[in-house]
Amino acid sequence: MVGLDMDEIPPWLRKRPAAVKAVDDYVEDGMVVGLGTGNAANMAVDRIAELVKDGMRLTLVSSSNQTEDYARKLGLGISDLNRVERIDVTIDGADEIDPNLDLIKGLGGALLKEKILASMSDKEIIVADDFKRVGVLGAATPLPVEVCRFACERTAEKLRSMGSEPVLRMREGSPFITDEGHYIYDCKFGSIPDPRRLEGEIDTIPGVVECGLFVGLTYCALTYSDDTGVNEYRL
Ligand code: A5P
Repeated sequence: MVGLDMDEIPPWLRKRPAAVKAVDDYVEDGMVVGLGTGNAANMAVDRIAELVKDGMRLTLVSSSNQTEDYARKLGLGISDLNRVERIDVTIDGADEIDPNLDLIKGLGGALLKEKILASMSDKEIIVADDFKRVGVLGAATPLPVEVCRFACERTAEKLRSMGSEPVLRMREGSPFITDEGHYIYDCKFGSIPDPRRLEGEIDTIPGVVECGLFVGLTYCALTYSDDTGVNEYRL
């Protein structure tokens, strides 16, 4: 970064100092570390790869095939999640962060495995651009809901009857398929004043595998803005 004007760094890359801080402050030798999915998570993987090259011993588990491929290209080994009982720290990104550090995640399509990792983690550390902090979840971002392909339109009807507008996620003209072989409906609910309640309601729909509301799982969020640099938020 030395000698580079900020204007020369694409906006999505500027949060790298937050990802580096997350790794440097929370990852220690001997830990089991969860790798999230997306740009922010990849920046943390970059830093982890540097530390491992310098001799740090870590057991790494991944939240997606995409991140696993990325990590392996950097020379990192990825362990089977069945072989670890808990995760010390997971570093991941988010699509929206509310004042309680509840999240919307899944615009990258990895919400199911991300949530499994988060639920197993002592510390879920979120790295994101500061503009992802919102007063209330859902006003700007649709909520991704992962569903079984079987009878998916019936599942979508149930999501619609709860007040959302589900749109089947597509990629190159075909439905997007998650790592675990499911579809995703992006559901515009509008403001979500009670994320825990909505998460519970969505989870009772047969056919829903998981939704992108992450409630009560975040330990801290490190956000970046050009004006204030890296800020850390904890409850
Ligand atoms: C992946 O499914 C998502 O939950 C990502 O973590 C989220 O979309 C944030 O991604 P970026 O770090 O790429 O913004």
